[in-house]
Amino acid sequence: MNPEWKIDTIAVQGGYEPRSGEPRVLPVVQSTTFKYEDAGHVSKLFDLEAAGFFYSRLANPTTDAFERKIAQMERGPGAMATSSGQAAITLAILNICSSGQHIVAASTLYGGTYNLFSTTLPKMGIEVTFVDPEASSEDILKAFRHETRCLYAETIGNPGLNILDFEKFSAVAHDRKCPLIIDNTLATPYLCRPFELGADIIVHSATKYMDGHATSVGGVIVDGGRFDWGCGRYPELTEPDESYHGIRYLNNFGDLAYIIKARVQLMRDLGPTQAPLNSFLFNLGVETLHLRMQRHSENALAVAKFLQGHPLVSWVCYPGLENHPSHERAKKYLPKGASGVLTFGIKGGMEAGRKFMEGTRLIALVVHVGDARSCVLHPASTTHRQLTEEQQISSGVTPDLIRLSIGIEDAGDIIADIDQALYLSQTQHA
Ligand SMILES: Cc1ncc(COP(=O)(O)O)c(C=O)c1O
Repeated sequence: MNPEWKIDTIAVQGGYEPRSGEPRVLPVVQSTTFKYEDAGHVSKLFDLEAAGFFYSRLANPTTDAFERKIAQMERGPGAMATSSGQAAITLAILNICSSGQHIVAASTLYGGTYNLFSTTLPKMGIEVTFVDPEASSEDILKAFRHETRCLYAETIGNPGLNILDFEKFSAVAHDRKCPLIIDNTLATPYLCRPFELGADIIVHSATKYMDGHATSVGGVIVDGGRFDWGCGRYPELTEPDESYHGIRYLNNFGDLAYIIKARVQLMRDLGPTQAPLNSFLFNLGVETLHLRMQRHSENALAVAKFLQGHPLVSWVCYPGLENHPSHERAKKYLPKGASGVLTFGIKGGMEAGRKFMEGTRLIALVVHVGDARSCVLHPASTTHRQLTEEQQISSGVTPDLIRLSIGIEDAGDIIADIDQALYLSQTQHA
C-alpha cells in the first residue's frame, strides 16, 4: 500500500493489490487447507517462522485481504477477523483477561455487549464494573483494581448515541497501565479513527456499515500496536507461551504481539473464524464505505432536523444536532458526519412506538443498523428486553425510544414515510 493513500483510496483498493495476471477482484478462496510439497515449509508455518496459510481457521487469503484493509483504514499494524462482532469483543478481552481478573466498561453499550459483560464474563470468573461515561476521571479511576486489565467503551454508544470523551478515557486507562478497547462499529474508520485519539485496541461488528447490505455477520479486532505490553502487568504477552513452544509474543512480534497472540492462541483454541465468503462480501461493502457513510450522515441529519420540528415527537437524539449533549465532541471526533443512527421519543410512549414501527412502509422493522436500507426498531421491547428496566435506563434506553438507522435512499422519501407513520401511530386502530 502507498502510505500516502487517503482513507477513500484504501477503502476501494486497500488490502488486495493484485500483481500482473492475478484477478482484479479479490477472489474467494473457499478452501479449508493449503497444499505444500516441503515438510520443512509447513513446520516453519506452524512455528510462526514463515508467513503463509495452512488451515483456514487460523488464516485464509480472502480473510487476510479484508483484515489488511481494515488495519490500513484504522492505521494499525494488524487485524484479525472473527465470525461476529460479539466474537471480536469476546476475544479482544479474553486475550488479556482471565478468571479472577476484572475490566471496567462504560455502561452505555450495545445490549449484546452489556449482556456479555454482565452475565457471561462473570460466569467465566471475569468481573466487570460499569461506569457512567460522563463521570469524572476521579470517579472512573475508583472503579479500577489491581487486577483490572482494560477499559472498554463505544465511540458512539448504541443506542444511547453518546460520543465518548476519548481524552478522558484514554488518560484514565493509561494512568492505570491498561489498554483502552474501543468498539468503533457505528462510527466506522471513515468517520472516526480511535487510535489517533488514544485507543489501543479497536473492535468492530463488520455486520453493520462495513457490510452495509445486511448480508453477513462478522467482526474484526484491530491492534494499534502502541500499547506498552512490557510495562510489567501483562505476563501473557511477555512470558513464554508453553502451548506454543514457549513463544514470547512481545519479544518475537513487537507491535503485532497482541493480535498474533489472539490468532495463534485464541482463534486456534476457540475457533470463531470468519468465513471466506463473508470476508469477500465485507471487502466489497467496504469499497463503498466512504460514500455510504457520507450519505448516511447527511440523510440522518436531515431526518433529525425534520423530527425536531414535529408535533408528535417529544425529543430527538442525534449527535449531529446542535442541542445534543455530545455535539461538541461529535464536531471534534467525527468531523465528517455523525453516522446514520438516531433515536427519538414518540408521543404516546410504548404503544405509539409499536404502531409507528408497524406503520412505516419504506423503512423496515428489522433488528439491525448500518444497512443501506432504512431500518426502525423499538429497543426496549427487542434488543434490550433481556435487561432490567434499571439496566435499560443505564444503557440509555427509555420506553418511548424509537431507533432509526437511516439508509442511503432519497432523504425526502424517508422523511415522508416517517411523517405518515407518526400520524398513523396516534390513531386508535393502526
Ligand atoms: C456497537 C455494536 N457492537 C457489537 C455488536 C455485535 O455485533 P454482531 O451482531 O456482529 O455480533 C453490535 C450489534 O448490533 C453493535 O451494534
